[in-house]
Amino acid sequence: MAQPKTKKTVFSGVQPTGDLHIGNLIGALSLWVREQERHDNIFCVVDLHALTIPEAIEAKALHRSSLDVAALYVACGIDPDKSIIFLQSQVRQHAELAWILECVTPMGWMNRMTQFKTKAQMQETVGTGLYTYPILQAADILLYHTDLVPVGEDQRQHIEITQDIAQRFEGLFGYHFTRPEIMVREVGARVMGLDDPEAKMSKSAANPRHAIGILDAPGVILKKLKSAKTDSRTAVDAADLGAGVRNLLTIYQAFAGGTWEEAVRRFDGQGYGALKTGVAEATIAGLEPIQRRFKELRADEPALEAMLRRSAAAAAERAEATMVEVRKAVGVR
Ligand code: TYM
Repeated sequence: MAQPKTKKTVFSGVQPTGDLHIGNLIGALSLWVREQERHDNIFCVVDLHALTIPEAIEAKALHRSSLDVAALYVACGIDPDKSIIFLQSQVRQHAELAWILECVTPMGWMNRMTQFKTKAQMQETVGTGLYTYPILQAADILLYHTDLVPVGEDQRQHIEITQDIAQRFEGLFGYHFTRPEIMVREVGARVMGLDDPEAKMSKSAANPRHAIGILDAPGVILKKLKSAKTDSRTAVDAADLGAGVRNLLTIYQAFAGGTWEEAVRRFDGQGYGALKTGVAEATIAGLEPIQRRFKELRADEPALEAMLRRSAAAAAERAEATMVEVRKAVGVR
């Protein structure tokens, strides 16, 4: 008989495309670490998702980027003895379930996906995989009967469609997938670009001052923050924070800890120069141990690969248990 679950299952992932930035760290990874002890965690490097923009990846470098992301998970505080960390492509059941779910997902649902519309606009030719991207994400989540998905705010629509797909599958085939809930940070679920506080910080922006990379050197971080866009005022006014200042305070709070109110109080009345220096100091201090640990982990690639293989085997065992039932439900063996 199956053991009753004592902990909630958490699943999340990051694409190994481009350099990870502090938006990924604040919105997603820091939340995974914060909640790690309370849950049964599965963290995936979603390398099959990275294939949806083939122009942006260099095939020879993809596996290396995946190892970088896995090492960053550990460097940020995910403990491979407590959480499963694996590469999506190493557990074949993800692609298999994605296909089965594609067959039950109405195209009209995909047409509503805002991320697809944004990403598709940026390219000349768009692969079908980019269109069905949310269904592979649904497969990732449903395969492990996930309860909670800790992500940034931009993923909300993808989690909602995952619930809809699970419901439709159950209606058609009678198999019940656990309905996942989104988990987001109270502050920092949407970190904005330094050059444009109206736009989400993203990996693909052209302006090199747009995002702070998790692996950026201290001098680079300071320079980028010094040039961050604020507004026409000169000092922080707690009663009337502009979008740029609000974003800087969000970054400060994420790295310095403490509450949002404390962060605002700390800088209220101070000039924007002092604010930017303060944010830079907190960011540099917060990233330093992560960068150090990352270097150590990347210096021993065989150990990293071995950890990923072990974790993939553990993930595959759980994924296969679901797939046995799913295959039975749809009538294939
Ligand atoms: P990706 O690789 O774009 O981003 C990884 C995580 O970082 C969060 N994030 C942000 N959070 C706050 N502010 C920002 N500016 C910011 N930019 C990115 C994202 O919300 C995400 O949590 N579709 C997913 C990958 C994925 C996935 C999954 C996630 C595939 N399968 C299953 C959860 C569960 C993505 O593109 O993430």
